[in-house]
Amino acid sequence: MKNAILKKVIVLHGPNLNLLGNRENDIYGNITLDQINDKLKNLGNGLGIEVITRQSNYEGMLIEWIQNAKKEGIHGIIINPAAYTHTSIAIRDALLSTDLPVIEVHLSNIFTRESFRHQSFISGVVKGQITGLGLNSYLLALRAFAEEF
Ligand code: DQA
Repeated sequence: MKNAILKKVIVLHGPNLNLLGNRENDIYGNITLDQINDKLKNLGNGLGIEVITRQSNYEGMLIEWIQNAKKEGIHGIIINPAAYTHTSIAIRDALLSTDLPVIEVHLSNIFTRESFRHQSFISGVVKGQITGLGLNSYLLALRAFAEEF
C-alpha cells in the first residue's frame, strides 16, 4: 500500500538537463531526465511525498517556478540549476525570497571539474548541497525532505 501523501516537493532541472542520456555521457552517464523523474516519483510514493518535476532552459522560467512554489502548496524545492549554478544571482535571489527549504543537487562533482564550476551562487542560500552522486544526488535530497523538513 502506498503511504498517504503528506508533503509536496518540486524538483527543478535547469538548462541542458533535458538532453541527459545524450549529453557528455562520460560525465553524466546514460540516465535520461525521464528516468530520473520516474525514480524520484517512485521513491516519493514510498515516502509519502508527491514529487512534481519541471525542466527549463530559461532562467526566468525557473525563477517563476521558485516564486510560485509556496502558492502551489509546495513544501520544499530540490534544484539542479545546471550552468546557472555558476552564473545566476537572479536564481539565488529568488531562492532567498522563498521561505521554503531548498536542496541544491548536481549529478557530477562540480569541485573536481573546471575551476569555473567550483563556485556556486546557490549554495550559500540552501539547506544543503549534494554533488557528484548521479541519480543518488536527487534521491538523497528527497530522503532528506522526508526525514528532516
Ligand atoms: C551540473 C553541473 C553544472 O556545472 C553543469 O553546467 C550542468 C550540470 C550537474 O548536475 O552535474 O549542466 O549541474
